[in-house]
Amino acid sequence: MEIRKVGVVGLGTMGAGIAQISVQAGHETVGRELTVELGERGRGTIERYLGRGVEKGRLTAADRDAALGRFSLTTELSDLADCDLVIEAVLEELELKREVFAELDRVTRPDAVLATNTSALSVGEIAAATQNPGRVVGMHFFNPAPVLPLVEIVGTPHSSEEAVRAAYDWAEGAGKQPVVCNDTPGFIVNRILIPLLNDCVRALDEADVAPADMDKAMTNGAGWPLGPCALLDLIGIDVHVNASEALHDKLGEERMAPPARLVEMQQQGRLGRKSGAGFYEY
Ligand SMILES: NC(=O)c1ccc[n+]([C@@H]2O[C@H](COP(=O)([O-])OP(=O)(O)OC[C@H]3O[C@@H](n4cnc5c(N)ncnc54)[C@H](O)[C@@H]3O)[C@@H](O)[C@H]2O)c1
Repeated sequence: MEIRKVGVVGLGTMGAGIAQISVQAGHETVGRELTVELGERGRGTIERYLGRGVEKGRLTAADRDAALGRFSLTTELSDLADCDLVIEAVLEELELKREVFAELDRVTRPDAVLATNTSALSVGEIAAATQNPGRVVGMHFFNPAPVLPLVEIVGTPHSSEEAVRAAYDWAEGAGKQPVVCNDTPGFIVNRILIPLLNDCVRALDEADVAPADMDKAMTNGAGWPLGPCALLDLIGIDVHVNASEALHDKLGEERMAPPARLVEMQQQGRLGRKSGAGFYEY
């Protein structure tokens, strides 16, 4: 099926980036947030990133204006009724996502594809809140979404081939590098990256290494483009702790559980870049 109009639910870190990808790919896009202020904050994020693109010569001012012109805001899910694809990027909470999908299932056309950007929840459990789980898939973008090319297209045992294909084609058409995978805990990248980042944090204490030296070690010794502490600050400590807990619950391996140091940082509100401080000060 051809996807023309796109809805994005939640315009935080990921949703704003996904909406930006969509408008830049030429799709009329409507973003849903809980309040007008939160919606305008999302629009501000998109404007800032597109503005930076113009400054760096990656796009023209006319392209930026046309992209922003394709974007609209709402606080009502019912305004997504005529979307061909809706991508959900609300907080990583199963019950919240299930409520959003049950409502999307009621308000959208039966042939619209509904996608979740969940990092570590089961797409199948989210889809089970709908009457028609065949049209539900995972579309797992990476942060920052407009920059990182990978999108994991997650098919559940109930996802229709058409829905998986439509999500894949849309992502590819938007300039991304989609990969199809099963609905297994952590999908591909997080299944590997979450325990690996937890190991890095444990090694800070075990080997008595400062965060900057850990990052120096992994960028210079393992060729990582970004050190693990800088990466965790970018992901958000709270997002990573929640994803670790979800993966640990499902797979039961100790390495999946969030290290005490990260849980403390979360409790102290040291959430990384978004809170102004994490392993580093911003
Ligand atoms: N941050 C990352 O690195 C990353 C990467 C990949 C996937 N994800 C996943 O993306 C999702 C969003 O994460 P984020 O980091 O953007 O979170 P975030 O906290 O930055 O944004 C979530 C937004 O959703 C909004 N929201 C909450 N309930 C809503 C509702 N019912 N309708 C509309 N908006 C609602 C909130 O107001 C907030 O602005 C999560 O499932 C997360 O696991 C995050």
